Amino acid sequence: MAELVIALDYPTMDAALATARGLRGAAKAAGAGESAGGRLWMKVGLELFTASGPEVVARLKDMGFPVFLDLKFHDIPNTVRGAVRSAVATGADMCNIHLSGGERMCRAAVEGLAEGAAVRGPGIAPILLGVTVLTSVAPGELPGGADPSAEASRLALCGREWGLSGVVCSGHEAEGIKQRCGSDFICLTPGIRPAAPQGSGSGGDDQRRVMTPAEAVRAGSDYLVVGRPVTGAAGPDGPAEAARRILAEIREA
Ligand code: C5P
Repeated sequence: MAELVIALDYPTMDAALATARGLRGAAKAAGAGESAGGRLWMKVGLELFTASGPEVVARLKDMGFPVFLDLKFHDIPNTVRGAVRSAVATGADMCNIHLSGGERMCRAAVEGLAEGAAVRGPGIAPILLGVTVLTSVAPGELPGGADPSAEASRLALCGREWGLSGVVCSGHEAEGIKQRCGSDFICLTPGIRPAAPQGSGSGGDDQRRVMTPAEAVRAGSDYLVVGRPVTGAAGPDGPAEAARRILAEIREA
């Protein structure tokens, strides 16, 4: 079953941890057992990590959540190798790089992943994903007029060849990517917008290639990333209630 990843895009660690605490009940309601882990992940992105550093990853792990460290590395191969190694050493269960960095950069990242996992000990198998084309990019916005979905599929095939576990793509590309790269090649999909208005992000915000949770699941996405529709939901129990509804939609789909 597809898993839900909540984007904790906050300017402080305290704000992020407060939301995470509120979401522990939703994780249990989703059948994830006594620990908050299982089907509900927390995502730490550029804003939060820049403000808080690696401590936020450790604190979320202590709460029982699997953590996706979404820093989208894109630099020379040696730098990305070290960055991925460091990302995994924080305790993150998933991290990512930009596929447009090319083959040598991506293969160096795969090496950094193995090195970081070795630091943490035996049996640790973190996931490395390649970003194809950001879900905020609309048709007509790429330089040279390339079609975002065609470009995402092309990059996904490269990612599989270069040793990555999967890609970050929109729901619109997931089905085609699964067909071309194999069903075990992971598709993680941001740009998720529930059909019924929930949080402040229900209108799509800066996202362009969007889908509802049910549509993304039917398209084959393995992980759905949702930020503002959950974090912006009104009321003290708003985020947990929004997450519960999305988890129910995932189950039904
Ligand atoms: O609030 P919203 O649901 O739009 O948040 C989406 C999250 O997913 C953000 O943290 C954003 O950085 C991330 N993301 C994305 N598109 C990608 C990769 C990551 O929107 N291709």
